[in-house]
Amino acid sequence: MILITGGAGYIGAHTNKALHNAGYETVVVDNLCKGYENFVKWGNFENYDFGSDDLREVFEKYDIDGVIHFAAFSSVAESVEMPQKYFKNNYRNTINLLKIMREYGVDKFILSSTAAVYGNPEKIPITEDTDLKPINPYGHSKFITEKALQREAEKGDFNYVSLRYFNAAGCDFDCEIGELHDPETHLIPLVLDAAIGKRDCIYIFGDDYDTPDGTCIRDYIHVNDLADAHIKAYEYLCNENESNIFNLGNGEGYSVREVIDMCKKVTKCDFEVKVDERREGDPAILVADSSKINEKLGWKPKYDLEEIVSSAWEWHKKIKDV
Ligand code: UFG
Repeated sequence: MILITGGAGYIGAHTNKALHNAGYETVVVDNLCKGYENFVKWGNFENYDFGSDDLREVFEKYDIDGVIHFAAFSSVAESVEMPQKYFKNNYRNTINLLKIMREYGVDKFILSSTAAVYGNPEKIPITEDTDLKPINPYGHSKFITEKALQREAEKGDFNYVSLRYFNAAGCDFDCEIGELHDPETHLIPLVLDAAIGKRDCIYIFGDDYDTPDGTCIRDYIHVNDLADAHIKAYEYLCNENESNIFNLGNGEGYSVREVIDMCKKVTKCDFEVKVDERREGDPAILVADSSKINEKLGWKPKYDLEEIVSSAWEWHKKIKDV
């Protein structure tokens, strides 16, 4: 049985579905502060805060073999306002979870990490051995959690894989689950809001970056490709007695303007685009070099930006009244 913390959230729910389709048994632990109970359509569900000592009840009830840990706060902007909240939930509570895992002899752990651990890297594409210099409390909370995992693994009888996601996007092709943040801050769902008429326009946060069209460049990766990487990482932990860290991206960068143009193409809707100030804490370019996970685990992303936007658009139309 795999315990999935945050399995009622966006990436966790997609991974839960993928694990189920691959034949794994799962139990989702989520306190529903960000997630949705109706996103847990597969396996078991337990409403707990992963940081609470009561979590032991879940380890008593189920025979847990490993933990995939999605539960975390992940808004860069909020982390700048409330750094302690990120330190406590993302780092301190994870330490508590590791302690409980030790007590129950659970030795496999996968962390949702982030490109934000790199900060503003000098070299693009970014490899895993790039210096870690997070520039916001969210990135820092994941950075110190990775360090704690390294120490835990050094004690023995415990292995982890840290997956550094670039920009997760797109949705389940069956539209059973999808992306639904409140408030929404991510580019693609916001652009689709403009396409569907829920917003008057989309604002580009800065067009004076040192990039070909002046807007920020990101590496968008389909959430199903992320889900697939978690399965491969879990199999790796089952078969190899070692820990590892991998980037997860498509290896291709798209500017904010290019993403907006793709959304216009896919939706066949036109809408106004305005330029606003830069958003604090946004690096100009983040593009992954994911060759390490390709070589080590045979993972390769399947979906390109058009498929990412198309799947997000189908979901968006379904939830337009939510
Ligand atoms: N953007 C706009 N207008 C908007 C929203 C976003 O121009 O209305 C721009 C941002 O400035 C950025 C790009 O679109 O350049 C992507 O922004 P997102 O908010 O969609 O994603 P981020 O790159 O900021 O954040 C993602 C994850 C974080 C993670 C970070 C790593 O959501 O959890 O990548 O840098 F920390």
